[in-house]
Amino acid sequence: MLIAHLTDLHVRPFGRATNRVVETNLMVERAVRQVAGFAPAAVVITGDLTENGLPEEYAELRRLLEGRLACPVYVVPGNHDRRASLRSALGAWPGVRTDSAFVHYAADIGPLRLIMLDSVVPGAGHGELCSERLAFLERALDAAQDRPVLIGLHHPPFMTGIAAMDAIPLRAPEALLALIARHGRVLAVLCGHHHRVIMAQHGGAMLLAGAAIGGHQSELTFDPAARPYFYLEPGGYFLLRWDGSALTANLATIGDFAGPFPFAVDADYPGRTMA
Ligand SMILES: [Fe+2]
Ligand SMILES: [Fe+2]
Repeated sequence: MLIAHLTDLHVRPFGRATNRVVETNLMVERAVRQVAGFAPAAVVITGDLTENGLPEEYAELRRLLEGRLACPVYVVPGNHDRRASLRSALGAWPGVRTDSAFVHYAADIGPLRLIMLDSVVPGAGHGELCSERLAFLERALDAAQDRPVLIGLHHPPFMTGIAAMDAIPLRAPEALLALIARHGRVLAVLCGHHHRVIMAQHGGAMLLAGAAIGGHQSELTFDPAARPYFYLEPGGYFLLRWDGSALTANLATIGDFAGPFPFAVDADYPGRTMA
């Protein structure tokens, strides 16, 4: 079973670029086409669905996604979204209106339980999970019982060493991490926000921050004085594969690359089986 994890779409009104140079809408269109070809059981999108949370951006997001995927699409907001606009535009999408205060909910993808969390602090770039949201997570984990769990939220629960990203982190991630470790069946925590693929682990769970779909990836620098810059590195998404006992995460990039070239090995290849 495949699950596609996309993040940081930063959709703009039709015909407009993000950050002057990033054609996010075009890249979302390409990504959705690719993803549809894999026929996943679900698509999970972990926030920054739009650049500014404008109604016309959500309308464009609907145009780019609706009717193009033969599976449920599960979303949560990021710091570039606005809860009220998201809720009114995407109210028919699964889970979005489950709770009146936050866009958080649980859903089943085959044998897996997906728990989507809302880490947004309105008016701020950083994220947090208040006591109300942590209580929801605790209830949802208890309800999952023995089912393996995937958690989705925008802000990753780890620091990266990239100053620009660590300035707007998930604050006080300890409570989330403690619940993950206590439950023991959380396979992965799917996040975005950092605009880079970064992987960590905690309590048996993979902690995954995905690439931005649009291709504006944060500069990889560990200079504590670095200002926030991005490069147009390839955009991408994770294809998660569940084989019944293990989860693997494959990074799929979006773009035009030369190939496919056959793995036709030379006669001198040392791994060739001796007849
Ligand atoms: Fe983002
Ligand atoms: Fe973000």
